[in-house]
Amino acid sequence: MRVNLDGRVLAYDDTGTDDPPVVLLHGFPFNRRIWDRQAEAISPRFRVIRPDLRGHGDSPPGPGPSRMEDLAGEVVRLLDHLGVGPAVIGGLSMGGYVALAFYRLFPARARALVLADTRAGADTPEGRNARHEMVALVREEGAHAVADKLLPKMLSPRASAALKDALRTLMASTSVEGVAGALLGMAERADSTDLLPRIECPTLIVVGAEDAITPPAESEAMAKRISRSRLVVIESAGHVSSLEQPEAFNRALEEFLLAEVGPR
Ligand code: MLT
Repeated sequence: MRVNLDGRVLAYDDTGTDDPPVVLLHGFPFNRRIWDRQAEAISPRFRVIRPDLRGHGDSPPGPGPSRMEDLAGEVVRLLDHLGVGPAVIGGLSMGGYVALAFYRLFPARARALVLADTRAGADTPEGRNARHEMVALVREEGAHAVADKLLPKMLSPRASAALKDALRTLMASTSVEGVAGALLGMAERADSTDLLPRIECPTLIVVGAEDAITPPAESEAMAKRISRSRLVVIESAGHVSSLEQPEAFNRALEEFLLAEVGPR
């Protein structure tokens, strides 16, 4: 489905029925298809809303950086359009940065949070430089070059060739301006560490035991600062734990949702 939010087109899937809705925000440079296995697993009990964030999947890029606050604002406008009140806001990696920005801006709209393979801190100066180098790479060589560069860190070394190929194809399908905008937006994102003790809703933190991009230590640090959090480490999974070990990820997600939020 697609919606035009005052001139900005956002593509999304909306499946399942029961409240409270669960919003799943993909990472970079992915799209909503990354959540297929989760939507399939929890849609019988929960309504699942999955947008393509600006510049990813079927949502066109905007001008300039895709700031995390702007992406969070588009998510809340999508929820307004759908008539959805407080929802579970979940995100993987960049989706987690957007989920934290969402909580900072619209805390009353978050019934619970799911922070998967993500971190609260901002980029280091070296990290920012690496983002700018990648912006140059995507503009010179295209999204497939970025996909080739990122792929070795996305999954655990034991991931199947078929899974690696599928993820490379998905990443390479993102538009050049979508990739560049997200990189620039992530480079200038705020440090959310101070927000963590102010998070009052139940929060599930999930991380692949072999996540090389946002290692488990980042998740442990977030779990210590968020009072109503539970931490689940997924064995035999790298950065995209939801894709690499969907059964274990879905079990953690469903147990959390049933224990903390419903269905009503
Ligand atoms: C992601 O998976 O969204 C990215 O690895 C996040 C990042 O580059 O910081």
